[in-house]
Parts: sequence; structure tokens; C-alpha cells
Amino acid sequence: MKLRYFSHSSFQITTNAGQVLLIDPFLDDNPTSPVRSDQLHADFIILTHGHGDHLGDGFKIAKRTKSLFICVNELANYVSDKGFQAHNMHIGGGHDFPFGRLQFTIAHHGSMTPEGSYAGEPAGVVLQIDGTTLYHTGDTGLFYDMKLIGEMTPLDYMLLPIGDNFTMGIREAVKAVELAAPKVAIPMHYNTFPVIAADPEEFRARLQAVGRVAKVMAYGEEMEL
Ligand code: NI
Ligand code: MN
Repeated sequence: MKLRYFSHSSFQITTNAGQVLLIDPFLDDNPTSPVRSDQLHADFIILTHGHGDHLGDGFKIAKRTKSLFICVNELANYVSDKGFQAHNMHIGGGHDFPFGRLQFTIAHHGSMTPEGSYAGEPAGVVLQIDGTTLYHTGDTGLFYDMKLIGEMTPLDYMLLPIGDNFTMGIREAVKAVELAAPKVAIPMHYNTFPVIAADPEEFRARLQAVGRVAKVMAYGEEMEL
């Protein structure tokens, strides 16, 4: 599988079979994204929560490319009410999709629809695709159950916020990686706006000092996992 980073919390996964998944596709109003939503196709769109910097351009992409949304129940109902296809799930539950297994986890954050109504609980997501495991934490503060998540599904990659203010900062993110113990940590949700400015190289160095590995992905970079 391939993982591509668009900046913020926005990633694209392409499976070995050629299916394309987007996670939190915040592109057109994202000052750091190197691509626009009209350049992308998605078979599946995974949303961690309803905030505008995560729902992003999901509807634009789904309208054009007929994507299936995967999100927690209340957010999935909102997506369905807008006329899109959605697969309703909830935290703690997993499901085998054509691309692999997906399970939602807790996240300590907020969530609402663009209209300001209830969008269910925010979530993180654990993916098992083509023999690789990946945990995208969504927007969250640090919580000790990250250790349990890593024990239940030993992790190859952990994608986690370091930008502080709305989520974990670098100090908390280093502890999160020690708890979940992925082989490689990939920082996200930083430098999109001044209030979430953070140095990913500092995160990488602080992880290295505790014997952990980080990969700082450039905006637009794609790598084979
Ligand atoms: Ni958020
Ligand atoms: Mn956010």
C-alpha cells in the first residue's frame, strides 16, 4: 500500500489492489495543501470527526467520484442526510471492508457538523490494509488507552497530532508514541495555521532520544508502506 500526505490531518491510502481511501480531506481551504480536491478520486472517505478542517472537501470529492463515507453513526447520518453514501460505525467496532479492516477508537476532542449540530463523538481509526497496520488518532489529547490500542493491534505506523492548542503538542505526542509503540510515528496537524505552529524535527529528535522512530512526511509526499 501507499501513503500520501497532503498536510494537516489529510492522507491518501492506495491499496495494492488500487482502491483509494482519503482520511480527513481538508484541501481547498487548507493553506498548506499542495493539491486541490478536484485532482483527487476516492473510493472511500474516512472522517475522524465533523470539524471543517477534517470533513473538508469530502462532499465535493464524493459528489464527483461516488465515494463511500465511513464514520461514526451520528456523523454518518448527517452525511446520508446530505445525499451521500455512508457506512455507519461506532467507537470500538471494527468492520471488514473490501480494502481491509477498519476500527474506530476513542479520541478526546469535540465534534460538530458545519451547521453546528451534534455529529457524534470524535474518533481515531485503526486500519489493517495489505498486512500493514496504521493508527490515525484524529484530533485528540493524550490518553493512556493508546497503550491498549497498540497492544490489541501491534502498530506499524501511528499518525498523530503535534500542533498543540486543539490537540496534543510535541511533549504529549512523544508520550503517546511511547504508549502505543508503533514502529514509525508520523506527525500531523501542525503548521497549517499560526496557532498550531510546531517543529516536526523537534518531535523527531525527542522521539529518537527515547529510542523511537519518526518519519516527517513532506506535503504531497507519497511513500510505500
Ligand atoms: Ni477538530
Ligand atoms: Mn482539527
